[in-house]
Amino acid sequence: LRPVQQNLYDLLEKANQYYLHQLQHHPQRQVFLDYLEQRGLSTEIVHQFDIGMAPDGWDNLFRTLASNNETSRLLEQAGMLVKNDKGRLYDRFRNRLMFPIRDRRGRVIGFGGRVIEADALPKYLNSPETPIFRKGHELYGLYQARKANRRLDRILIVEGYMDVIALAQYGVTNAVATLGTATTPDHLRQLIRSAPEVVFCFDGDQAGLDAAWRAAENALPVLGGNFELKFMFLPAGDDPDSLIRREGKAQFETMLNDAQSFSAFFLDHLKQRVGGDSMDARARLIELAKPYLGRITAGVYRDMLAQQLAEQAQTSRHVLNKHLGKSAESN
Ligand code: CTP
Ligand code: MN
Ligand code: MN
Ligand code: MN
Ligand code: MN
Repeated sequence: LRPVQQNLYDLLEKANQYYLHQLQHHPQRQVFLDYLEQRGLSTEIVHQFDIGMAPDGWDNLFRTLASNNETSRLLEQAGMLVKNDKGRLYDRFRNRLMFPIRDRRGRVIGFGGRVIEADALPKYLNSPETPIFRKGHELYGLYQARKANRRLDRILIVEGYMDVIALAQYGVTNAVATLGTATTPDHLRQLIRSAPEVVFCFDGDQAGLDAAWRAAENALPVLGGNFELKFMFLPAGDDPDSLIRREGKAQFETMLNDAQSFSAFFLDHLKQRVGGDSMDARARLIELAKPYLGRITAGVYRDMLAQQLAEQAQTSRHVLNKHLGKSAESN
């Protein structure tokens, strides 16, 4: 570990302590506490995820932590301070509820901050990429999920901080969130190493559907290993937070157990894109599937998916193989 990285970890831990302390003692803390209550978060869960508050003002953190130029420079490098065009440093996070983001070892590596007024923008602000925070690599809640479960049989991937936390409060302690980015191949590799079953559980809206399909695309190269990928689709307008609060844990888990397999989602999605059941549509289905099949490296998995594709397209494996060519044939 380079010394500068250690310094960044130390500073972010101090920032975390500062935000926690503010939620306990700041004269304006009550509006933040009211907001947490309104979102239905218990004191225990707030404590478990170390939710804090960044008070309003341009330089609260700056004045508290930046004792000298070297520390200011490090705080800027850690993403906590921003420089204006006149070269002055100010706090990135102001008047926000603060969610510390930890790596899998529990070290604070960044923050997400949420406004508490209904219409303020941006709703969420995250730390930028820094030498210790790579968004395409980190998963919010993985540290807590591993701590809460001796063995992880299943991991849920959700979109947001509040989804992870609400699920945990209801006893679903195995959810993690990507950090305002798509699920990357790096995320996927970590997830399938962490649990034998990985379930995508994105918001019940167009963005959530798009994110699920992107995750499926990114999963193609890793398919066929000793794990299962599944897709849970939520009712329109719901996210995991709203769903579990309305329906409860048991109903949530019933829906979770009905999650679609990768192959079912893959074929359903493509079939929906070609529309209809005409011969033209079935031919388009094969055309559409071809490049995706070519990206599946595991021969058996590719072969079995091709088998299902042939059935759905109402054609023979022989015709399909002839069309797919060498790239997607069994070997
Ligand atoms: N997100 C982000 N930056 C944004 C918007 C969203 O990083 N500008 C991330 C956050 O992690 C957020 C997640 O994407 O938790 C899901 O976004 P969204 O569904 O829009 O959040 P909401 O469910 O609307 O947030 P909340 O429940 O807190 O109202
Ligand atoms: Mn939203
Ligand atoms: Mn959303
Ligand atoms: Mn939400
Ligand atoms: Mn949401």
